[in-house]
Amino acid sequence: MPRYAYINGSYTAHNKACIHIEDRGFQFADGVYEVIACIHGCLADERGHLDRLQRSLSELGMDMPVSRQTLQLIFRELLRKNRLKNANIYIQVTRGIARRDFPFPDHETTPLSLIVTTWPFRFDGNPRVKDGARVITVPDQRWARRDIKTIALLPQVLAKQHAVEAGAYEAWMLDKNGYITEGSSSNAWIVSQDNKLITREPSHDILRGVTRTAIDKLRQEMGIEWEERPFTPEEAYRAQEAFTTAAVALVVPVIAIDDHKIGTGKPGPVALGLYKEYRAYVDGLRGEQLKWKA
Ligand code: PDD
Repeated sequence: MPRYAYINGSYTAHNKACIHIEDRGFQFADGVYEVIACIHGCLADERGHLDRLQRSLSELGMDMPVSRQTLQLIFRELLRKNRLKNANIYIQVTRGIARRDFPFPDHETTPLSLIVTTWPFRFDGNPRVKDGARVITVPDQRWARRDIKTIALLPQVLAKQHAVEAGAYEAWMLDKNGYITEGSSSNAWIVSQDNKLITREPSHDILRGVTRTAIDKLRQEMGIEWEERPFTPEEAYRAQEAFTTAAVALVVPVIAIDDHKIGTGKPGPVALGLYKEYRAYVDGLRGEQLKWKA
């Protein structure tokens, strides 16, 4: 079955979908992206992802390339063409194609580039959820606006590669004061000795995860207290549990950080409970999906 991608107005065979060499995303990483999970045909927190896309664009002086409703139509048409009900949807918007020059091109004459791709997402079969994952800590080498979801991901690529080479799943990044900011492509959480969920507060230092926001809602319903504050690797080593959240993996329990066993060294009840509740939460969004105007 051919695989399709959406690129600047057309649904194209995935292996033929190309972007011009002078796209500003390619030359300057001048663009933003989003990843949305589609679970049993239901787009998880589509509204939250579209809101963040709009915010990222606006922080960089770009508009939406098409209306939200058109974007939603594109997602659904691409999922249909690719016959996917369980998928990750990748959306990338760049400042378009223009002669290589640092200042912004004239936005009247240079349309933004829009790319949407999808790939299968096997959430429940993820062995890391069942068995837990290992993480390492590395310096956070990113720029000062980590709240914007830009495609400039080289520091995260290097951090993740470091993790892979160390036999780990994710790298938790450390700010200059030695506190964990977040994972290279996920938010970082611990369960403290006094049973509180701890995760860093939203600021320019981290990406405010859409999954993170959903987990906040769920932990309130579950009666779990939380504190939004920075934490150190040493505090994390002593935590009862640790986990990461992201649209591409939902909730992944962490069983070791820098070779320190976390808790019992097995996925803990809070992380597994939140995974289960998150799945139920997305299934519960189905009614809202039918209206599908985010
Ligand atoms: N990354 N922090 C960073 C740095 C991220 O790149 C991501 C997601 C998150 C979690 O955000 P959300 O819950 O909205 O997915 C936090 C995506 C999934 C990626 O780059 O593939």
